[in-house]
Amino acid sequence: MNVTQVAELLRESECTSTRTPYDELPYRSLPIEWTAPERLALASLLHGGPRSPLEGYRVLELGCADGANLLPLAYYRRYATFVGIDSASSQIEVANSRKTALGLNNLDFICTDFATASQKLSSQFDYIISHGVFSWIPHNVRDAFLKLCSQYLRSGGLLYLNYNTYPGWNVRGMVRGFLLAQTAGEVSLKARGQLAQEVAAKVVSSLTIGEHPYAQLIANEFRFVCENHVSYVAHEYLAADNHPYWRSEFLALMRQYGLHYVADADFNYASGRIPEELAPRLEKEQITGRTIDDTVDLLCYRQLHSPILTKGPWTKQPLSVEEFANLRIASCLVPCASDSEGRMFEHPSGYQVEAKDEVMRAALKKLQPLWPGGHAIGKLFQDVSQVMDDLQLLQRNGLIELRCIEPGDFTVSRTFLNSLEDEVGGYMTTPYHTREVASSDLDTNSSGTHVRPGVGQWRESVNGDARRVPATPGVGQ
Ligand SMILES: C[S@@+](CC[C@H](N)C(=O)[O-])C[C@H]1O[C@@H](n2cnc3c(N)ncnc32)[C@H](O)[C@@H]1O
Repeated sequence: MNVTQVAELLRESECTSTRTPYDELPYRSLPIEWTAPERLALASLLHGGPRSPLEGYRVLELGCADGANLLPLAYYRRYATFVGIDSASSQIEVANSRKTALGLNNLDFICTDFATASQKLSSQFDYIISHGVFSWIPHNVRDAFLKLCSQYLRSGGLLYLNYNTYPGWNVRGMVRGFLLAQTAGEVSLKARGQLAQEVAAKVVSSLTIGEHPYAQLIANEFRFVCENHVSYVAHEYLAADNHPYWRSEFLALMRQYGLHYVADADFNYASGRIPEELAPRLEKEQITGRTIDDTVDLLCYRQLHSPILTKGPWTKQPLSVEEFANLRIASCLVPCASDSEGRMFEHPSGYQVEAKDEVMRAALKKLQPLWPGGHAIGKLFQDVSQVMDDLQLLQRNGLIELRCIEPGDFTVSRTFLNSLEDEVGGYMTTPYHTREVASSDLDTNSSGTHVRPGVGQWRESVNGDARRVPATPGVGQ
């Protein structure tokens, strides 16, 4: 049987069942850092996109699974309201029981299919988020999904919609094709997922992984299968539908629904990054392939994109110095002990940066003890226009954080949420919507003080491979 035949058989069995594949094997969902509204608002602002509300807003999550992403968002942001929809009733039941346990009244979960969701939604949303869903829905559902986004996103609102990306996803697609065929004899999704992991482990152990780049690439892919949770493996590799898109194809499809690209939500994370100046150089030399964006994706081995879109045509409105001064900055860069001149600063990830300017050095030294808290940029620097470019460079390279607001309600104790998360998933979400590995020595106190910085840990995407940038930019004169 070939891949298309296996997928067709799976689709047929799903149609005759009243339970969805996600009822059969619930997805092990996780909070996704980039979906936090204040992060989407920042990405939009820095890229000249619509300015979005930072409190009193409404958020809709499409395909919210068991609520792992929405629960912490709503928990720390009582000043906003959240709605999650998902067609798997067993997952919505779990989400509702966790919502009750946390006593949240700014969050609703609705069990419905995208095709019928409009009957259950009343007004529009400032933010719509959907992670790990778009590539997994069949094309006939995709139309209903996009109509829903277009209908319920308010004008100037932000839509976060990630998808598997060509051509990088071709490598994962080869492994999916192999695993679909290899596990076709098993009936239940869980059994197929487990078998896929067993087979992948055997493949890894029997491969002779030498220096050859292909052997390393394919071994990594099979290792990825072994190391992930069985529910992820089953739904990512063995689902009837998994459709990657070229970036140009995806954006053209969005435009048909009046949705326009603003920025990448994860613009300050690398996913096989190429130098910033390469794309303009290729364009100048007319080396663009399908399109320049698709060529960039080819060169940096992109497997996943997380774009932010907005409704209706919008005019780019460059960030002003005043807007920049109103932002906050947080940094955990520390002076390098080995640098006698005191110009080099180090990130916990090991990356170093040279601060050539005394103003910048003084600011970084002042910020570090405040981490993970931040400071108003306008109060930290006398002449904000002088540091605007450098600070954005540091931000793009993941070395500092710029924020529209300090997210989260710090009067809310982390304890209730984090002990629930620890129990069900072995992680804890911070008010910044980052994840920390749970540990028994968590010293969370009732005032909600941050006891551990969240940067550098758990920064990977569930479906992708974003990693820290090996950046060594120099900032200042
Ligand atoms: C791969 S999971 C992603 C879950 C979560 N967003 C995450 O990233 O962890 C896809 C989710 O979309 C939901 N879903 C798929 N098709 C749907 C449809 N037609 N209507 C509503 N929900 C759907 C599934 O039940 C599942 O929870």
